Amino acid sequence: MTDFVVRPITDDERRPTFDLLGQALHSPQLSDETWAQIGDSWAAPGKFGAFADDRPIGITSGFATTIAVPGGAVLPAAAVDGVGVRADWTRRGVVTALMSAQLNDLAERGTSLACLHASEAVIYGRFGYGIATSGATVRIDHPARLREGAEAGGAVRLLDTGEARAQLPALYQRIGLHRPGMIARPSLWWPIALNRRLSREGGYRVAVHTGPNGEDDAFAMFKSVDQSTAADPERGVLLEVRDLQGANPEAIAALWRFLLSIDLVATVSSRFRPVDEPLSVLLTDPRRARTTEVEDDLWLRLVDVAGALAARTYGPGEPVVFEVDDRLLPANRGRYRVGPDGAGHTDAGADLRLDADTLAMLYLGEWRASTLAQAGRITVVDPAAPARADTLFATGTRPWCGTYF
Ligand SMILES: CC(C)(COP(=O)(O)OP(=O)(O)OC[C@H]1O[C@@H](n2cnc3c(N)ncnc32)[C@H](O)[C@@H]1OP(=O)(O)O)[C@@H](O)C(=O)NCCC(=O)NCCS
Repeated sequence: MTDFVVRPITDDERRPTFDLLGQALHSPQLSDETWAQIGDSWAAPGKFGAFADDRPIGITSGFATTIAVPGGAVLPAAAVDGVGVRADWTRRGVVTALMSAQLNDLAERGTSLACLHASEAVIYGRFGYGIATSGATVRIDHPARLREGAEAGGAVRLLDTGEARAQLPALYQRIGLHRPGMIARPSLWWPIALNRRLSREGGYRVAVHTGPNGEDDAFAMFKSVDQSTAADPERGVLLEVRDLQGANPEAIAALWRFLLSIDLVATVSSRFRPVDEPLSVLLTDPRRARTTEVEDDLWLRLVDVAGALAARTYGPGEPVVFEVDDRLLPANRGRYRVGPDGAGHTDAGADLRLDADTLAMLYLGEWRASTLAQAGRITVVDPAAPARADTLFATGTRPWCGTYF
């Protein structure tokens, strides 16, 4: 017997469902003042609630965006930015019902992809999401400096909070979605993110780079964290960098040069950087930069498998026929031929069989089919097919999301 209902939330239910999500994620309770600043950004469309006796017991929140896929096409996507179930209702199928409602709604609307960042890695595979990008944590210990010629000049300036709010949305848009996996940041994304980071508690400052042509082309947020302890009073300041975005490698290097030039800093660190960012070889001493962790970043879900496969480009070689299983969105079940000339439905026999979550791992080029076959995530019918799929799905640039939501 179902003792709860799942439906889109109404405007009046935004605050109670936001608070419910906050409790599920152990966030501090939001003041009315902060809600007044960010409430409008937590818009009802894209959010589904589970209700028992008209009271919210679960929420999945999402907002409409677009995402870049290999080859440069930009597809409509949903960014799922909050999933939570009230503690006394967990493990009773609430999130399963919410995910199903949300994905079916997205499919009806013609949204190609859904994506999220997972607080736990064991939840979303069963709903067809797979790890589609990774992020690196990098740590640079001083003394460290950039090699000459790593960047093309220009100037860096600091913004105050008001300037950051006014200038960053347009600057991010100008930087563009130049890696597969990058998403557009709709206007409702900014108030919540900036409120959290640029507040007194958040403590972040913003640096912007202007290129030699006079146009702003990169920005970064950074904050100082005192690492000293009673046992180690001389440990010095850690500069925590987040959201470093640039239109080109030279602009990104110029911001790293600036960040490494700030006085009285012992260490510069940043989480969720592109795994292929050439930071160590930008430095005069490459050993000053270390990757201390690589972790899952964007989880992707192909909502419209045929449309998404057709929208990206592929490398050279012989085609491969994939047989896709999809428990939650059965319209996606079937065989797809993927070749250098594109992808579409086929009646030909399968070379490889996989589930929707594994297809999502391949889609942006983050994982090789042969690796996933070795891990037992792909059933191999034609033993030559994994190597062919590796070449077809490979991308020159590693995918990267770079936006937290
Ligand atoms: C995690 C959470 C969203 C799951 O919701 P739920 O309603 O309890 O999930 P369901 O009852 O629909 O369970 C779905 C499946 O996931 C499994 N599952 C749920 N939570 C799990 C967890 N934390 N760890 C491992 N498995 C979990 C269930 O066993 C079930 O498995 P099955 O399909 O094999 O039967 C919910 O427990 C919650 O809100 N937790 C606190 C906030 C949080 O962690 N949010 C998720 C951020 S990524």
